[in-house]
Amino acid sequence: MDMITPILLIFLVPLPSCIFSLDTIAPNQPLRDGDVLVSSKKIFALGFFSSGNSQKRYVGVWYNKVPEQTIVWVANRDNPVTDTSGLLVINSHGGLVIYGKNQSSPLWSANVTVSSPNNSTAKLLDTGNLVLLENGSLSPLWQGFDYPSNTMLPFMKLGLDRRSKLNRFLTSWKSKDDPGTGTCSYGIDPSGFPQLFVYKGQAPRWRGRAWIKERWSGVPEMTNNFIFNVTFVNNQDEISIVFTITDESIFSRLVLDESGIVERSTWYNQVHQWVKFWSAPEERCDEYGRCGANSNCDPYNVDKFECTCLPGFEPKLLHEWYLRDGSGGCVSTKRASLCRNGEGFVKVPRVKPPDSSAARVNLSMGLEACKAECLRNCSCMAYSSADERKGGIGCVTWHGDLVDMRTYSNLGQDLYVRVNATILAQYAMKSNGSLGHKEKLAASLASGLVFFLLFCIVFWLAKRKRKGKRRQDKLSFSLTRGSTYLEDSPVRTDLGESRINSDLPIFELRTIAAATNNFSSNNKLGKGGFGSVYKGVLYNGKEIAVKRLAKNSGQGIEEFKNEVVLIAKLQHRNLVRILGCCVQDEEKMLIYEYLPNKSLDSFIFNEAKRAFLDWPKRFEIIYGIARGILYLHHDSRLRIIHRDLKASNVLLDSAMNPKISDFGMARIFGAEQIEANTNRVVGTYGYMSPEYAMQGLFSVKSDVYSFGVLLLEIVSGRKNTRYYHDNPDSNLVGHVWHLWKEGRASEIIDSTLGESYPVDEVVRCIQIALLCVQEHATNRPTMSGVVSMLGNNAAAPSPRQPGFLVKRSYHTSGDPSASTEGAYSVNDVTCTEIEAR
Ligand SMILES: *[C@@H]1O[C@H](CO)[C@@H](O)[C@H](O)[C@H]1NC(C)=O
Ligand SMILES: *[C@@H]1O[C@H](CO)[C@@H](O)[C@H](O)[C@H]1NC(C)=O
Ligand SMILES: *[C@@H]1O[C@H](CO)[C@@H](O)[C@H](O)[C@H]1NC(C)=O
Ligand SMILES: *[C@@H]1O[C@H](CO)[C@@H](O)[C@H](O)[C@H]1NC(C)=O
Ligand SMILES: *[C@@H]1O[C@H](CO)[C@@H](O)[C@H](O)[C@H]1NC(C)=O
Ligand SMILES: *[C@@H]1O[C@H](CO)[C@@H](O)[C@H](O)[C@H]1NC(C)=O
Ligand SMILES: *[C@@H]1O[C@H](CO)[C@@H](O)[C@H](O)[C@H]1NC(C)=O
Ligand SMILES: *[C@@H]1O[C@H](CO)[C@@H](O)[C@H](O)[C@H]1NC(C)=O
Ligand SMILES: *[C@@H]1O[C@H](CO)[C@@H](O)[C@H](O)[C@H]1NC(C)=O
Ligand SMILES: *[C@@H]1O[C@H](CO)[C@@H](O)[C@H](O)[C@H]1NC(C)=O
Repeated sequence: MDMITPILLIFLVPLPSCIFSLDTIAPNQPLRDGDVLVSSKKIFALGFFSSGNSQKRYVGVWYNKVPEQTIVWVANRDNPVTDTSGLLVINSHGGLVIYGKNQSSPLWSANVTVSSPNNSTAKLLDTGNLVLLENGSLSPLWQGFDYPSNTMLPFMKLGLDRRSKLNRFLTSWKSKDDPGTGTCSYGIDPSGFPQLFVYKGQAPRWRGRAWIKERWSGVPEMTNNFIFNVTFVNNQDEISIVFTITDESIFSRLVLDESGIVERSTWYNQVHQWVKFWSAPEERCDEYGRCGANSNCDPYNVDKFECTCLPGFEPKLLHEWYLRDGSGGCVSTKRASLCRNGEGFVKVPRVKPPDSSAARVNLSMGLEACKAECLRNCSCMAYSSADERKGGIGCVTWHGDLVDMRTYSNLGQDLYVRVNATILAQYAMKSNGSLGHKEKLAASLASGLVFFLLFCIVFWLAKRKRKGKRRQDKLSFSLTRGSTYLEDSPVRTDLGESRINSDLPIFELRTIAAATNNFSSNNKLGKGGFGSVYKGVLYNGKEIAVKRLAKNSGQGIEEFKNEVVLIAKLQHRNLVRILGCCVQDEEKMLIYEYLPNKSLDSFIFNEAKRAFLDWPKRFEIIYGIARGILYLHHDSRLRIIHRDLKASNVLLDSAMNPKISDFGMARIFGAEQIEANTNRVVGTYGYMSPEYAMQGLFSVKSDVYSFGVLLLEIVSGRKNTRYYHDNPDSNLVGHVWHLWKEGRASEIIDSTLGESYPVDEVVRCIQIALLCVQEHATNRPTMSGVVSMLGNNAAAPSPRQPGFLVKRSYHTSGDPSASTEGAYSVNDVTCTEIEAR
């Protein structure tokens, strides 16, 4: 019974729409506002509509079966009917026109010349295409698909018809309420090695990659698969792209929105909504020419500034560059050395190759021939294979600026950039020696942590050799013994012999998984470039912080055995302590002591929490940080420069003792910095010494500078980067200096300290801080000087001009961790800036 009833219903109840709906407009049957034309399989509908809050009426096509009216095509988008008097008719000349009230001047018309005027019809097809047919012929005289709006539908062709010069591209709506022709467009640029572009006005906003065989190279979403079939044609007749869908019950569309974002989405009936499948541009590096010419946008850069000059190039506008504005791009000063002067090519891996609209392509050339071809022609700046698959097919050469590149984590192809002999030698040395690996490591965002890991791995191997006397999850251990070992012997460079006398324990994965609730999100403390940090509790109740390295961050670490030993030996009460590690399968983790009070910045920049820190406590914190840095600079025998000292890198234990964290990456990136001798400045703006921010020069004195800033922040409870009304060009350093010169330094002291502090002592601290931030590094005290000045009342000299950080407005899109203001110091400019007050 249950089965029979519905079947009977189907047979007995005729569907009304079958009888009444029409898909065709004949000469004597105008479509009035309110009538709806429905395609034969009821997929699309055509009629008058209004959008959003607007009362204006447009003729459009929408999905008949999608409840929320989704317009895919609009006829009179720039000439709406102002009331409901609109008519869509085949006029006396056989053309298709829309009239409002005035029937002598059409608001819109399809541009056709009809030979037998009284016998043409307009028909809505099941593809959503409105076609004008003559004598019932199947090939249309005119079709709506040749004049797309903001939506690309399956079977719709975009591109240029080289014979008729008809160019089909999407144009955005003006707004959600107004389907009028907006400023953004999306289509094929037929020049060079053709690519898809989104333009905003005349300016490119996004660029797709060139079409290779059956796909857009490097865009997996656009590859043919079981649903999509994309066809690209480039011959003397046309250049075009069509995508088809094998299952017509799937509604898929590509929409260009008002802001210039293209998005492909699919209708899911189950959830009754359009589900996004792909969109572009999605991140900053997708924006066309984000980093200017000859520069690469790498969203995975450690210091969160994504622009890097290509090998052999330097920032064109150095100041802008340090303000994290890469749009000026990069230049190469010695072009002459690039022509028959022993030059060669440096590989830039995994990139979206530069804009190829002016590139030369030869699909029958291999990569070796391509290299030779590029080398032969002095105007050739770079080459790559056209198709990176199967070891590289075809040859693309670029002559001129290389624009709009970005790095992908796993897609992309290798680009070979022409460099002069000097730079070629530098790169060859790096890739042969360990230096290059260092750079790779830095680029892969692995922090200093990985060095501990290697230490762990080797130690673990050693342990296995020794047939494991100790249980692996043993918790009591000491690094001190290891340090003693180091004190007794010269720094070892070969860890492979596993003569490490350290008790750094190895934890089992299941122990850590249990401790962190299987890495549950509730246990997550934070996330960094290296991976995530979790809080955990071991079975014995001990609290730990687990840094779980991202799976891809561990490559090429063997070469760093040396550093592993060195850093593992760091042991000081004011440095965060490592408890052990875990290396199992794909997982690499470091286990640290857990510090319940989080970081110093969560206290000093929080009005309520700051009150917990009275002056004696603050002084203890200042003194502890100073001793921690002193240890790094001098006492550890290693001379480690932290390079990123700031309030958020100082953690507080339960007794509010300060512990410096992330000290590992400092020196390693320091090494890379020297070798690269370039523009990658790591650190945090606001804490950077002028010579470091400007010239990339760093020394122990740049840490002293950062410490000075930190000290002022602790005393005042204010961020260095805060805005000061009375001196809008200034930051905290400048503000304090201003007050100091007028003998009003005590005004900066945090008011939550109340009255309970010795003014002299605090002012002395301000004086020491000002000594630390002096403009010339040579004038700044060393950390041992700072510690002794803090520790006794020896007379401190008068501070001179601080390294003054001029503030500039700076716009960053989307990266909240980037400083919202850039700061730079220009030695020559400094005086004028200050006197200008
Ligand atoms: C209708 O349009 C024609 C042509 O533009 C114009 O001459 C005429 O005045 C219009 N009629 C009305 C009533 O607006
Ligand atoms: C008709 O042709 C004109 C000029 O060639 C063009 O501006 C207009 O967009 C065309 N309209 C349609 C609907 O094809
Ligand atoms: C169509 O027009 C032709 C003349 O151009 C005329 O002979 C014929 O009768 C017309 N047919 C109809 C159906 O109106
Ligand atoms: C009009 O088109 C029909 C086919 O739809 C055809 O049979 C008829 O002969 C045509 N009439 C004229 C006058 O062209
Ligand atoms: C339609 O029919 C008319 C008259 O028979 C003829 O002149 C015209 O060429 C035909 N058009 C097409 C597109 O077949
Ligand atoms: C894809 O489309 C092209 C042209 O429409 C057709 O020749 C080809 O057979 C299609 N491929 C598949 C897998 O449907
Ligand atoms: C190569 O270029 C670098 C940087 O532009 C430059 O310092 C060096 O002198 C050049 N080498 C030669 C041989 O011209
Ligand atoms: C492409 O390369 C092949 C092989 O090197 C060569 O024979 C051919 O002439 C080149 N074609 C063009 C258009 O340069
Ligand atoms: C080098 O390439 C440029 C750009 O394609 C071309 O105009 C020029 O003729 C080439 N020069 C030589 C010597 O092949
Ligand atoms: C780097 O190694 C390659 C191959 O191992 C060798 O051909 C090249 O000469 C080496 N370069 C330097 C600068 O050592």
